[in-house]
Amino acid sequence: MSNLIAGQDIHMSYGGVVPELASRAHQANIVPVADQALKKAGIGVDDIDAVAFTLGPGLLGSLLVGTSFAKGFALARNIPLIGVNHLHAHIMAHFILEKDKENRVPELPFLCLLVSGGHTRLVVMQNHLEMEIIGNTIDDAAGEAFDKCGKLMDFPYPAGPVIDKYASEGNKKAFNFSKPSVKGLDFSFSGLKTSFLYFLRDRLKEDPEFIIKNRNDLCASLQETIVGILINKLVKASQQTGIRELGIAGGVSANSGLRNALARESTKRGWNLFVPPIAYTTDNAAMIGITGYYKYLRGEYSSQDTAPQARI
Ligand code: KG4
Ligand code: ZN
Repeated sequence: MSNLIAGQDIHMSYGGVVPELASRAHQANIVPVADQALKKAGIGVDDIDAVAFTLGPGLLGSLLVGTSFAKGFALARNIPLIGVNHLHAHIMAHFILEKDKENRVPELPFLCLLVSGGHTRLVVMQNHLEMEIIGNTIDDAAGEAFDKCGKLMDFPYPAGPVIDKYASEGNKKAFNFSKPSVKGLDFSFSGLKTSFLYFLRDRLKEDPEFIIKNRNDLCASLQETIVGILINKLVKASQQTGIRELGIAGGVSANSGLRNALARESTKRGWNLFVPPIAYTTDNAAMIGITGYYKYLRGEYSSQDTAPQARI
């Protein structure tokens, strides 16, 4: 009914999220945002049946703010408290139904590529509350590859959307970056970051303006490499599991290169593809809400002594 986000521009000038500043901003924003969300939905606190919150994984200081707020709200209203796993919620974003809108939702089992800032995983969803991880990164996440390579080109944080924008004007075959060979359905991105670093270092020695002159082509080629690694494993996972009900989730699923490549692959292979609206790819409240809803239906509540966890 409403889905509000309070962004934190403060981190841009530091080139990454500063945990203490993030918690302080959460503390300052949480009451006004909850208040606005109710207003936008046109309901009052009495209309709320349960409160869902992010249990983790994430930055502990920020998680504590949300957890404390949710506990206080649940206690004051005497309603169920529901802790939600952030990564589960990214995938559950596919099941969001908006008021007065009709959209398709995946049938189960559903195979989802979860690509966020901190995680890159292949997940099979058996039912709304049970999932199996069938592939995982052995080092960096795809989002980190975007962010760290972007940092090397002096882009602001998060660099993913910036690279996406410049890539659309560049030649994706201009440069060749090697792809890792990792067995099975696992991923690796740290080698790409290192080879990108050495590549830039060598080229900058020859021409200090190399990045400025080749910005679009660098972004397009880098994006093409990351997207190629992701699609390759998704194809493999679909073949191994026999699942054709497929989707992507998490911040990197906003990437237009990934979306276009997937659409092509999907037509070729006869997948039933689910790509979330952009608003439900990067972190958002609606994905926590929909996961809380399914847990509510099953009576999976959290107790008041639940503690958030940086890693789950
Ligand atoms: O899921 P998310 O919002 O937060 C986490 O839970 O981590 O993901 C953030 C990540 C960042 O690494 C950011 O650079 C990346 O998503 N991202 C993108 C795009 N939009 C966000 N990466 C590539 N292309 C984009 N358009
Ligand atoms: Zn996220």
